[in-house]
Amino acid sequence: MKKLIKILVAVILIAAAYSAIPIAWLYIKKVPSSYTNEQAVGKLKSNKGEYFEFLAFGDNHGGFPFTDSAALKLIRYMNKEDRFKKIPIDFVVNLGDIAFINGTEWDYMTYNKLRSLLKWPVVTVTGNHDDDEIRNLIRFTKYIGARELAFPDRNSYFIVLDNRLNDVSENQFIWLEDELKKSSEYQHRFIFLHKSPLSLYQQSWFRPELSPWSYRFMKLCEKYKVDMVFSGHEHMFRKARHGGVIYITSGGGGMFTQIPESEGGFLHYVVVRIYGDYVDYEVRKIFPPLWEFLTYYMWKELFYFLRNAIY
Ligand SMILES: [Fe+2]
Repeated sequence: MKKLIKILVAVILIAAAYSAIPIAWLYIKKVPSSYTNEQAVGKLKSNKGEYFEFLAFGDNHGGFPFTDSAALKLIRYMNKEDRFKKIPIDFVVNLGDIAFINGTEWDYMTYNKLRSLLKWPVVTVTGNHDDDEIRNLIRFTKYIGARELAFPDRNSYFIVLDNRLNDVSENQFIWLEDELKKSSEYQHRFIFLHKSPLSLYQQSWFRPELSPWSYRFMKLCEKYKVDMVFSGHEHMFRKARHGGVIYITSGGGGMFTQIPESEGGFLHYVVVRIYGDYVDYEVRKIFPPLWEFLTYYMWKELFYFLRNAIY
């Protein structure tokens, strides 16, 4: 019996070590040439038809082994999304916090490598961790390009907004409304920004709803019949509908998720499908790399289990 337990432990440890190998490969990989958001959306111009998908994830926090290992696993799964050759996938959107904490050169180089592994052009939103070290976002501009842009793809219009400082200025509101007016020629409208106007997790420490931009932004989305608003920032999956608009928080792209799995604290990405008039989405929950499960996720769930059972 003892021998069996030893074998089992050895197998688990070998499997855990094996699950960490892709990070080593990522770190020795040559840094690819980068491309900007503008170049990414430029690749969508010749798309035809009204049947397509895009993928969304956020908060990979690149540049730290724990987060990069999880992001690599997500990317591996995302790249398999077109295996049935059924629906063209046009692009991927990253909802911000691409850098681990301080927006260092290493973080950006790592994100650039991760981004290059995805089979589709990636549009990147700016998050609050992407400019911590250099406040004027030199690295974001160098590796990613525009922080705000709007672009059509097939029958849909997409708007990327920078609200990393938990604010939307008067000028931004004017620009946003202009873009929403242009979007009325299209069947669908989507907005990507890092911080949701309303925390979709009521027990969260994050409280954007106390900021003046929040309600105004939501009323604007309602007025112009925005289909979906995507944000990251909170490391979880949550969804809600307000004023006919679907709000999604998708911040489980690599960073430690803190809340219980049953409440949305899991690694994931979102697949959005557009079929003419219709829009729907699915959440792909990804089991963490085994070494992360054994060192963090297992204990997180155990902590909540014990807290609920005892306290
Ligand atoms: Fe984050």
